[in-house]
Amino acid sequence: MKQVISISLGSKANDYEFQTQFLGQKFKIKRIGTNGDYDKMAELLVQLDDEADAFGLGSVKLPSSNKSNPLIKMVTNILDSVRDDSAKIAKLRSRLKTPVTTGDHLINVAHEWALRSLQFEHSGYFNNARVLFFSGMNCFRMAKVMSEFTDNIMFADPIIENGISKFLNSFKDLDLYAQGIHDILRWVPSKRLTSSALPLKKWNTYILRKAIQKAHIIVVPYNNFYDYVGDCTPEELGGKTIITTTAYDDRIEFLKNQGVNLIIDTTPKILKRVVGVNVQEALVIAALEKKRHQITDEELLELMSAEKTGLRPRLVYPSGDPRRICRFAFVIHPLSQEQFKLEKTVKPFINIPGAVDAVEKVIAYAPPWVYSKVTGIKSPAGSEAEGWLITVGGTPKQMMSHSPEFTYKRLLMAARMAKRLGAQIMGLGAFTKVVGDAGVTVAKKAAIPITTGNSYSASGALWAAADAVRRMGLIKIEDGKKINGKTMVFGATGAIGSVCSRLLAMAFDEVYLCGRNIIKLMALKESIQKETPKVKLHTVVNPDKYLEDMDVIVTATSGMGKKILDITKVKPGCVITDVARPLDLSPEDVAKRPDVLVIESGEILLPGKPKLKDIGLPKGVAYACLAETIVLALEGRFEVFTIGRDIEWEKVKTIYKLGLKHGMKLAAISGVNGVYSDKDIKKVRDLALKARKKKNG
Ligand SMILES: NC(=O)c1ccc[n+]([C@@H]2O[C@H](COP(=O)([O-])OP(=O)(O)OC[C@H]3O[C@@H](n4cnc5c(N)ncnc54)[C@H](OP(=O)(O)O)[C@@H]3O)[C@@H](O)[C@H]2O)c1
Repeated sequence: MKQVISISLGSKANDYEFQTQFLGQKFKIKRIGTNGDYDKMAELLVQLDDEADAFGLGSVKLPSSNKSNPLIKMVTNILDSVRDDSAKIAKLRSRLKTPVTTGDHLINVAHEWALRSLQFEHSGYFNNARVLFFSGMNCFRMAKVMSEFTDNIMFADPIIENGISKFLNSFKDLDLYAQGIHDILRWVPSKRLTSSALPLKKWNTYILRKAIQKAHIIVVPYNNFYDYVGDCTPEELGGKTIITTTAYDDRIEFLKNQGVNLIIDTTPKILKRVVGVNVQEALVIAALEKKRHQITDEELLELMSAEKTGLRPRLVYPSGDPRRICRFAFVIHPLSQEQFKLEKTVKPFINIPGAVDAVEKVIAYAPPWVYSKVTGIKSPAGSEAEGWLITVGGTPKQMMSHSPEFTYKRLLMAARMAKRLGAQIMGLGAFTKVVGDAGVTVAKKAAIPITTGNSYSASGALWAAADAVRRMGLIKIEDGKKINGKTMVFGATGAIGSVCSRLLAMAFDEVYLCGRNIIKLMALKESIQKETPKVKLHTVVNPDKYLEDMDVIVTATSGMGKKILDITKVKPGCVITDVARPLDLSPEDVAKRPDVLVIESGEILLPGKPKLKDIGLPKGVAYACLAETIVLALEGRFEVFTIGRDIEWEKVKTIYKLGLKHGMKLAAISGVNGVYSDKDIKKVRDLALKARKKKNG
């Protein structure tokens, strides 16, 4: 039987001895603690040299850079510390024939493997996450890999090692710091001051606490684990992901009590019992009967991916409930002056001529700000989403009165803010994607993926229309058959209007494409006709004379509240879905026709218990474009999804299906006066039937 002996600087109280099997071989594993005594450690190395097949050195702080040969340095240091006579050292070193390891090779490979395999399995897990490394130097290779997935990295090395009140914010900085040539190190003389001056110490503790609070992922070194996080509270660690090595049960229990969401233990658990990474590497060395430096990354990786050894990073969800929290941002803006008038600061001035106009102009220039944090969205498929509603100041009127670049600039500022916050995807609300090229430029220049949300807006609008038509019960709908009815789309050439037209062409016998530019309409007609040859398509610039025949109307213009259609001419019982924001139909217009059902497009009821500030919708309900951003976050699809005016039909189908998977529901259909109850709809239907009867004599 082979023997692996771990000599640890840790407490003797944790010593153990047991037998196990690894790669088909029998092993005796023994740990001997030296209570921090280096002399004892060196003595034991010599003493047990004949008994062991491999030594592991435990609780030894690993060297900082991956460029040095850690093992040689380490053993030299240990031997130097007990034998300062060089002749004796040489003699002692030459007498050690057993391979010795601190586990650093396995740790480095395991760190990289853990990150890459998780990022692959849980698509985009680390994308743009805010990551705090207590010690980047201790996790150099992990830091390098992490920097491929996110720029939001903070290394606390200067604070913890030198008492310098500053974080390193990139892997490049960490590398310079490791080489001792980073500018920050010029501050080192202040170390003496910082370690003795209480206010500075307190300040360092304060900024470290703040960084912990803001981080999504915290990397805690194995050594002195409790020194780093022992004082943390659930407010600081709650919901976080902790990456560490060798998560013993007491550590897991501690992190569980702090409400930690996920512990990624990069030390593979190859034995039932959790043992130090030095023991595991010593086990591998003894099993393969190779010198430490002869074992390659590939060999270790092969062992890690081989299921028989179980050499894989360990994921522990302390609550027992696997959670993945994805993050999004969504840009909103005031739709009209009416929204400013409600603001406390503006209210006193609303009666002063020109004051509100002036506020509207000035706010359009304001930099973006966070209007609301969104939490509590939970998909039945398991993932969760949280995010930020970021507002830009321009009303549609202001956006349209400036060049598109004016809005792009503010959207790119919002994207930078979203990135800093840790958002993994950003959606564009209402008019922010109507101006210019509908998100194309912003998506090209932003550092995080962008979506306009228009795929879901289009499908949501028709989802709501279908629901309303069914509840009105005036049109015969038969499964698998086209609806024998007429429908018209206002703004048919637009991004949302054109998809609605395509969808309606598949469901109805006749579709009227309404717009201002007949050439655009003709081109649209041709392309729809190719896709759906059996539908009867019409192009109209002057729609009034056809309105009395329409069963369903969708309005999706960017007319900014201008009168788009004459509701007095509409057929009794018609269902009008008003997708536009600001709405194409004013409350006054809607009031003129109590026999027509006007619904405000298809809003989406979010899954879970969403918490966010008022966005002018009932609790838990979101605009479909916001819902698209959330669905993509829940699915971990951090990609540019819908942009431009040519929305792909495939994407509309995909987002609809993903929405169902993640528990999105059509919100109760509502109109200008709020949610329509069955009683309200019956009233509209009765009035419509009466009006039709009267019209038919
Ligand atoms: N409810 C939601 O969740 C949601 C989500 C996204 C967007 N929206 C709203 O939906 C609307 C359309 O968005 P989009 O992205 O499809 O915009 P878009 O691509 O710019 O299309 C706008 C369409 O409106 C037409 N139009 C513009 N001004 C008009 C006017 N005065 N009279 C008649 N037609 C006019 C344009 O026709 P021309 O080709 O002739 O210019 C174009 O066909 C916007 O109001 C937007 O705020 C709502």
